[in-house]
Amino acid sequence: MDDIKNKILKLKKEKNAVILAHCYQNMEIDEVADYIGDSLYLSQMAAKTDADIIVFAGVYFMAQTAKILSPNKKVLLPRLESGCLMADMIDLAQLREFKSKHPNIPVVCYINSTAEVKSECDICCTSSNAIKIVDSLKSNKVLFLPDTYLGKWVESKLNGVEVITYPGYCPTHLRIKAEDIIAARKNYPNAKILTHPECHQSVTSISDFVGSTTGIMKYAKESEAKQFIIATEKGVYDRLKRDLPEKEFIMIKDNIICPNMKWHTLDDIYNALLQEEHEITVDKALANKALGCINRMLEVSK
Ligand code: 13P
Ligand code: SF4
Repeated sequence: MDDIKNKILKLKKEKNAVILAHCYQNMEIDEVADYIGDSLYLSQMAAKTDADIIVFAGVYFMAQTAKILSPNKKVLLPRLESGCLMADMIDLAQLREFKSKHPNIPVVCYINSTAEVKSECDICCTSSNAIKIVDSLKSNKVLFLPDTYLGKWVESKLNGVEVITYPGYCPTHLRIKAEDIIAARKNYPNAKILTHPECHQSVTSISDFVGSTTGIMKYAKESEAKQFIIATEKGVYDRLKRDLPEKEFIMIKDNIICPNMKWHTLDDIYNALLQEEHEITVDKALANKALGCINRMLEVSK
């Protein structure tokens, strides 16, 4: 482990590379990563870095967003299998059909979407800024895609805004059910239940805190409570357990794991850096259109 770690650190220096890692990744990746966090933070870091190479330990749309934000940098995704099932639930034809059914309404896309989809949406959002982004449109109706549950959660937080959602979802987060939350409350009456907004409304509506992966970690750190139930992907639980040993963390249930987030290993990161693969490319015209959608979000999120 130390050997591979040192080899990566050395290569990173030689090639002026940075490693961005999402907090659902295998924990070993943190040992070599420069930036670890949620989708918003990682996209901000991708836009800011002056490295020549970005190795993205995350899923495809994240690496693609990094390339759009930093077109002159080489962006590498160590394992191409790392897609996001939710992002793949809507393509351009489906987006156009959805828009044609609801004309003249501003369109917000979750960052978990393809560059093609972003290129025909008004503004992008992540789980940490979705409420702020929808609110910034000052419209009483908004189209939201692909995540119907994030969209409906935003609607529940904004008075008088109808959020018309596309029927996409995250299969991992939908495995968490209201009955799991009810059982956790009964078994751990003093615990705070922390949930990701990709969960079903029947789950988010009875949780103590709903937020992005980084938001959940920040809440656990700053809260006076000593016991927490984690209702999101297990990577968040693993990091909280490691970083806050004085507090107790309990996973809402077994196997809340996003298989696509777990592909990259340290060996893959090393190979990616050594061979400079797999390079993510985005057609220039498409990237320019998608960039407008992402930049509008970054502007509102400042
Ligand atoms: P965050 O923006 O909270 O990191 O979420 C990304 C994601 O894919 C959650 O499933
Ligand atoms: Fe996509 Fe869900 Fe995996 Fe997040 S957890 S990357 S939304 S499939």
